[in-house]
Amino acid sequence: MTAQIINGKAIADTILNDIKSSIDNRLAKGLRAPALAVILVGDDPASSIYVRNKRLACEKTGIRSLAYDLPASTSEADLLALIAQLNDDEEIDGILVQSPLPAHIEEKKIIETISATKDVDGFHPYNIGRLAVRQPTLRSCTPYGVIRLLQSTGMKLLGLDAVVVGVSNHVGRPMALELLLAGCTVTSCHRHTKDLKANVERADVVVAAVGKPNLVKGEWIKPGAIVIDIGINRLEDGSLCGDIEFAVAKERASWITPVPGGVGPMTVATLMQNTLTALELRKAGPATA
Ligand code: GUN
Repeated sequence: MTAQIINGKAIADTILNDIKSSIDNRLAKGLRAPALAVILVGDDPASSIYVRNKRLACEKTGIRSLAYDLPASTSEADLLALIAQLNDDEEIDGILVQSPLPAHIEEKKIIETISATKDVDGFHPYNIGRLAVRQPTLRSCTPYGVIRLLQSTGMKLLGLDAVVVGVSNHVGRPMALELLLAGCTVTSCHRHTKDLKANVERADVVVAAVGKPNLVKGEWIKPGAIVIDIGINRLEDGSLCGDIEFAVAKERASWITPVPGGVGPMTVATLMQNTLTALELRKAGPATA
């Protein structure tokens, strides 16, 4: 079996076009466009590329983008003060602080200071908690992007055995919660997992989010499984590869994402979606239980 390729770039472009239409409709009604504040601290080259892509997507969709490019020496107190000011600004709908942050800034404190209603990354414990109790509001961008890719295949997820490799706060954990919400039987694998191979071998859906080139061997993939690779690793020759051995896995899977051009563009598309959602939810008023 040779897998069909899940074209994340094309699916993300469709989502961006839909968002642009929604924003054009708002403007036609005299309503304002959503606004996203993107904060970059320091000059990490990979972060600069990610942030540039996010700002380009804002331009494509009509989201107003506010750029805060701060020096690596920015103090934690100054960053917290900027976030407090953006939290209070009625004209700002989303606040994104690109990670990683310089070592002297505590990321947890930053994430928890961003108002949960403006947390368009979906990293705030409130938003993770909403997902855990089956009431998602602002959903973590990469995991929700993966769900939309899975939906695009037309495969039914209910009852499938899903294995998530990686348990990071930003990706692996919310990914497992998303798959649980979709009705999968979910296993999370991590560095202490006794037998990664055996877990992957029985999975109908494999999602890898570790950041280790070719950690998941292609021959472990169950024939017909859906394979999603969130890892983006740069090799010594400058090329990019995922966490899953693509060439071998492709010959066994039913559907597979490429790296690049798979999950990456969906993270950005979901971020744009969340910014529009954040505006609409805030205007609708507080949620009632
Ligand atoms: N660094 C790498 N990916 C991300 C992301 O999706 N959001 C933020 N804030 N930082 C990142």
